[in-house]
Amino acid sequence: VIITTALVKLRSRRRLMSSFGLSTLRAPGTIRFGEGSVVTVGPTVRALAGDGKVLVCTDPYLAGAAQGAAVESSLREAGLEVEILAGAEPELPLPAVERAIATAREVDPVALVGLGGGSCIDLAKLVALGLVHEGPIDRYYGENAVPGPCAPLVAVPTTGGTGSEVTPVAVVTDPAQSLKVGVSSPWLIPRAAICDPELSLGAPRKVTAYAGIDALAHAIEAYTALPRPSWDDIGQRVAVGSGALTDAFALRAIGEISTSFLDALEDRGSGRAGMLAGSLLAGLAFGTAGVAAAHALQYPVGARTKTPHGLGVGLLLPFVMRFNKPAAGERLAQTGEALGVGSDADAAVARVRELGLEAGLPPSLREIGVNLEDLPPMAAEAIKIARLIDNNPRPVGLADAESLLEACWYGDLELLT
Ligand SMILES: NC(=O)c1ccc[n+]([C@@H]2O[C@H](COP(=O)([O-])OP(=O)(O)OC[C@H]3O[C@@H](n4cnc5c(N)ncnc54)[C@H](O)[C@@H]3O)[C@@H](O)[C@H]2O)c1
Ligand SMILES: [Fe+2]
Repeated sequence: VIITTALVKLRSRRRLMSSFGLSTLRAPGTIRFGEGSVVTVGPTVRALAGDGKVLVCTDPYLAGAAQGAAVESSLREAGLEVEILAGAEPELPLPAVERAIATAREVDPVALVGLGGGSCIDLAKLVALGLVHEGPIDRYYGENAVPGPCAPLVAVPTTGGTGSEVTPVAVVTDPAQSLKVGVSSPWLIPRAAICDPELSLGAPRKVTAYAGIDALAHAIEAYTALPRPSWDDIGQRVAVGSGALTDAFALRAIGEISTSFLDALEDRGSGRAGMLAGSLLAGLAFGTAGVAAAHALQYPVGARTKTPHGLGVGLLLPFVMRFNKPAAGERLAQTGEALGVGSDADAAVARVRELGLEAGLPPSLREIGVNLEDLPPMAAEAIKIARLIDNNPRPVGLADAESLLEACWYGDLELLT
């Protein structure tokens, strides 16, 4: 009775809180950003896991580069033993993950460091999972299938970027599945993220372009994601839709990315640092809010054309924004403000299209080898990805997905108006 009375009293104050609405944020316990922060990797790991052996999950290039050396020396200076597992491959094939878990079980580390782009950090997340929970990994596909904490992981990104250093997701290419698959659970969020812009110097132009436009898509799709009106609707979802806590990160991310993207591509000024900051902020937004239709439609595009995730997402994004305008016009206008083109949804769409083309993205699906007759089966596959489609502000039916893909196939935004 006492509790019920207290609740009634609290509810009578609800109006005071309504402008903030319902909001959730999940994030690593520690996030550091700034030049030279790589020296804190060793002390951070030690504080988390104590003495012992640390396994650094990375790829063959970074293992032999300055990034690998900087992380290793920080760990050794903190008095930790270090083993390097250079097992990550682009788009992360499942057999590479299984091999890495087998090696990690032999090493038996007290903690992991994930060093690199999304492929390396995602590998480290799945190794952290596989060290504690029994395989095979496909048991954990989908949302909330991981039963509890994984091995302690510190993520150190070198691309600006996927945001994987702060998100609850790892993406894998499983040869047994036609589309890429994700393991999505709050237990996958790294315990700490250390973001040193110096480590992102030298990323190849295409990697910078695709990861950068993907980061912009994370921020915009998180900001326009369907807000859920009650805790019952939010339930146990990993991606809960937009809310005030994630909006703050998303808007700042859009601003940071729009001023830094082209500079990062040319390795000018503070472009790289701005992109690492922007992709981190975007990760904080979409790691809780989730992404939506541009990401769902990329899955069948990526599967058919073997093009990178960011290329497809970046190509689809302005088309999805245009499609979403009737349901999310105001949010898209605010996106325009954050992009620096004024409070106007159409200007936001045009700017995103322009940024993609300036970064060298193909102008249409036709250019990357998609056949017109493939569009209906692709639309059918995309709308089945419920966790992404349900998060889109405007409902996407089969016919909608087909028209979206068709407009993108011709590379003509006007087909959607
Ligand atoms: N977990 C998530 O939340 C999430 C989000 C988006 C994408 N992803 C996944 O991330 C992967 C893509 O990650 P990515 O775009 O960061 O690239 P990546 O990890 O695939 O790396 C691409 C290439 O760039 C090189 N590279 C990385 N940093 C470098 C640097 N500073 N200097 C020189 N070379 C460097 C790598 O060695 C590699 O050859 C995909 O598998 C995608 O599905 C995950
Ligand atoms: Fe993405």
